[in-house]
Amino acid sequence: MSAWTAVDVITAKRTGRELPDDAVRWVLDGFTRGEVAPEQMSALLMAVLWRGLSPRELATWTDAMVRSGERMDLSGTGRPVVDKHSSGGVGDKVSLVVAPLVASFGVAVPKLSGRGLGHTGGTLDKLESIPGWRGGLAHEEFLAQLRDVGAVIASAGAELAPADKALYALRDVTGTVESVPLIASSIMSKKIAGGADAVLLDVKVGSGAFMPDVPSARELARTMVGLGAAHGVRTVCLLTSMEAPLGRGVGNALEVAEAVEVLSGGGPADLVEVCTSVAREMLALGGQPGADPAAALRDGSALAVWERMVAAQGGDPSAPLPRAAHVHEVRADRSGVLARLDARSVGVAAWRLGAGRARKEDDVSASAGVVCRVQRGEPVRAGDVVLELHADDPARLDGGLAALDGSWDVTDAAPDAAPLVLERVA
Ligand code: URA
Repeated sequence: MSAWTAVDVITAKRTGRELPDDAVRWVLDGFTRGEVAPEQMSALLMAVLWRGLSPRELATWTDAMVRSGERMDLSGTGRPVVDKHSSGGVGDKVSLVVAPLVASFGVAVPKLSGRGLGHTGGTLDKLESIPGWRGGLAHEEFLAQLRDVGAVIASAGAELAPADKALYALRDVTGTVESVPLIASSIMSKKIAGGADAVLLDVKVGSGAFMPDVPSARELARTMVGLGAAHGVRTVCLLTSMEAPLGRGVGNALEVAEAVEVLSGGGPADLVEVCTSVAREMLALGGQPGADPAAALRDGSALAVWERMVAAQGGDPSAPLPRAAHVHEVRADRSGVLARLDARSVGVAAWRLGAGRARKEDDVSASAGVVCRVQRGEPVRAGDVVLELHADDPARLDGGLAALDGSWDVTDAAPDAAPLVLERVA
């Protein structure tokens, strides 16, 4: 019997007191077991959002989330094991490229991914647009594929950090996502439980990300690096820009198609740059600091691992991807240079067109989304198509168009070159 009650814990945090270790463990265990009610946990989350967590509270909070489930043992893989996670963005198909790319150098990549919610896409939703592909693997299948192919992207089982699953669902509907300690503990509890030796975190910064500016992203990155170190997981963060969508395709099948372009040695330059920067860091964490990921994109070795990875999970890598029944084009009314294309607006448009879900239980459309035919900094002539809206259901087009209203500017002068990789935190 604990000395704590949920109301005591909420009141202590609300009034700015540091929670003792036993209070943190009790409340997270109680919530995972269903003894602390969702409305009580919601109140506590709001208090944490306002008051923050001290380093000690955060360490205990994260540890309690890791211990709410199992910690995977990947020591039998026989290779260095390096995981990757993004804090979420628009058009962010980097995981689809870097998992097979890094594995083509002999480093194992066990990537447990989630679904999209809100305006940011989810890696599982993207891969499910490949006919036959399945993300739910039994533990033995996961390990066997990691040994044989070297790369796995799969859904996290219910046994991995279950406290995070329950907390994330509450945060999503109570306006308590954008909190550095809550995001840091959510991401790191899953990464620590996932069993990798090292983790590369891609912290997205800008309008399409949860972190709006570099100082807040840096704080999140430093917090996560510290949590990783405390649990023996070497952790490096790259801060990368999410002011504009990454690449041209935003939406599930559209993003898979673009990832395959990059794996085939082509694709948009911004996406290639982020993929190779992330892959270089992952390879260094895996003991190959001098490796050149761009070479493996050019010579087909990354693509070969992609095909084996997709096929091992029941997918047909050569099957045509689904295409939307309705495509609406948005054209420029003047000539110039595309100076701005707002990532969040494009993400919301893709979501409304059917690429994302409004509630966890909704289905997503594989083919819906937005194609950015012109990227930031590219020239455009009056009458050129700037954006394509793809939808299965034509009734969704108006919502998508409304989200894009005012989201882009064409100007005479080219915008300043904007760096994509903003900072490295290790
Ligand atoms: N991604 C996560 O896994 N958790 C968060 O809280 C935010 C982004």
